[in-house]
Amino acid sequence: MARLRLDDPVARRLHPGTSDGVWLVSRYDLVRGVLADTRWSSGVGNKDESAMTFGDVAGPPGMFISQDPPEHTFYRRMLTGKFTLARMNRLRPRIEQIVTEQLDELERMPRPADLVQGFALPVPSLVICELLGVPYDQRDKFQRTSAILLSLTATPEEMLEAQREFIEFLSGFVAEQRVKPDDALIGDLIRDHGDELSDDEIVQIALLLLVAGHETTANMIGLGVLLLLRHPDQAALVREGGEATKGAVDELMRYLSIVDQVMVRRATETLPLHNRTAKEGDYVLLSLASANRDPQLCADPDRFDVTRPKVPHVAFGFGPHQCLGQNLARLELEIAYSAVLRRFPDLALAVPLEEVPFRTDMAIYGVHKLPVTW
Ligand code: HEM
Repeated sequence: MARLRLDDPVARRLHPGTSDGVWLVSRYDLVRGVLADTRWSSGVGNKDESAMTFGDVAGPPGMFISQDPPEHTFYRRMLTGKFTLARMNRLRPRIEQIVTEQLDELERMPRPADLVQGFALPVPSLVICELLGVPYDQRDKFQRTSAILLSLTATPEEMLEAQREFIEFLSGFVAEQRVKPDDALIGDLIRDHGDELSDDEIVQIALLLLVAGHETTANMIGLGVLLLLRHPDQAALVREGGEATKGAVDELMRYLSIVDQVMVRRATETLPLHNRTAKEGDYVLLSLASANRDPQLCADPDRFDVTRPKVPHVAFGFGPHQCLGQNLARLELEIAYSAVLRRFPDLALAVPLEEVPFRTDMAIYGVHKLPVTW
């Protein structure tokens, strides 16, 4: 990618999702330029339900991540106020409690323990369930199905079945909230905007928040802990908590860029793209990982350095679709990294690095398992 970024930052590439290829964009300024420009559409829904095929399809009403203005704006403005920094900070004590309880659970597990199952996955699942008001004891209904939806190897039939199951589960939940809305986010949304939204739209909003809210954060916890174990001097700074840990979170986000090759946009008209011209209907694949390692963004970008001054990385995207949950994600990561390092000062990888199963088969990068001991 570093070579492409220099020699051919808008490169024509074959891609299993299209018959005639995509433009692969690898330079920071060009990636940001596309993300900021709504003539590049987010309506790139899966053609045959498999995660790697694109089509000229907007998401169903409510699934605003794959919609453009004005539809996107209609839903997003209803939710922005519910994810402000101030509101997320009010969740801090509860997130700290969830993290402590999950660490107790991990500590009780036989060693070597899998940090993904014991810690990285349950923490964001518990947090997003609590935020939305979804009962956590029903988590297997969404953890299993969303893993299929984000898999790059599931068949179209498996995708459709997972989607059907997920929607059935959420439809029941939304129907209950309509009758008796609680104080959590979906109940709140129904109280504030219930007359503007159909049940199907609320189901799609809940689906998006659940999937976006737990897989991403879980993988940042798992892969982030692995990176920190390999950099003990930097882990020592993260363990301190407070401002040092806050800065470290953004460096971990930049360096790992776990959402990468799934950032797709479609040209709605003929559009200039650096030294090329995209035709209407052309797709671009935006490499956030490459953009975040561009020397244009920061000095010595391939070095992991938690003391680096804050840089405007694009690990949460950029422009109108920039991650709605970033304040929540930052808070969860800050609390989770420092707490796990403090609880287990001698935490260590229990297998050689080559045996760690990386998620090369999934849309969101990370590790499937992280066997650790202490
Ligand atoms: C959008 C990354 C956590 C909810 C995005 C986008 C990225 C991203 C790159 C832009 C997608 C695009 O432009 O097509 C991440 C990462 C996370 C994280 C790396 C964790 C470390 C969360 C959490 C939530 C969330 C905790 C909570 C609900 C969303 C939503 C969108 C989004 C709703 C769509 C926004 C829109 O289309 O307007 N995220 N995210 N994310 N994220 Fe996150």
